[in-house]
Amino acid sequence: MSFGMSYEAMKEELAGRLKPSRFRHSLGVAETAAVLAKRFGVDEEQARVAGLLHDCAREYRNEDMLAEAERREIPVGEVERAMPLLLHAYIGAKRVREIYQVDDAAVEQAIWRHTVGGAGMTELDKIIWFADMIEPGRDYPGVEELRQLAREASLDDMVLAGLSQSIRFVVAKGHLIHPDTVLARNELLLKKMR
Ligand SMILES: [Fe+2]
Ligand SMILES: [Fe+2]
Repeated sequence: MSFGMSYEAMKEELAGRLKPSRFRHSLGVAETAAVLAKRFGVDEEQARVAGLLHDCAREYRNEDMLAEAERREIPVGEVERAMPLLLHAYIGAKRVREIYQVDDAAVEQAIWRHTVGGAGMTELDKIIWFADMIEPGRDYPGVEELRQLAREASLDDMVLAGLSQSIRFVVAKGHLIHPDTVLARNELLLKKMR
């Protein structure tokens, strides 16, 4: 891995790019991810950088997301086409190299997967995905239970609970479920059943 830019410089660049609430959220995810990385013996610097930059493509308007994805030859499935906001994860994964000089496949992958998850998530993928759900600025029914799991449960158990919560939430809103979220949850559940 190589980070061509200092963490402070990344923060400054990002602050100029995101609205203040999204920037605060990003700092929250970075710090939460670092705490989780420490707890689970994962590289804290990678977790902090991936957490900080995970939403770095979030400021694109929905109508620009498709073009930005296509420009980078990112495959766009029918779920993404219907919900272009999901594309900010994939575009963000590409932008860490383009803008922040981060040359790190693990960080790229964690950002790529931070919204809908995926099969075969690494520990770093899981940490970023979960930190996004529980950073201190998050407020929704059930978030405290997930925060408690982050202190006590295994990484797989907390992510499984988070994925179940996320799927329930998406269903309640009547939205499409991304197949990668189902793959991620099934995989964890099957592992538990063995
Ligand atoms: Fe995001
Ligand atoms: Fe986020």
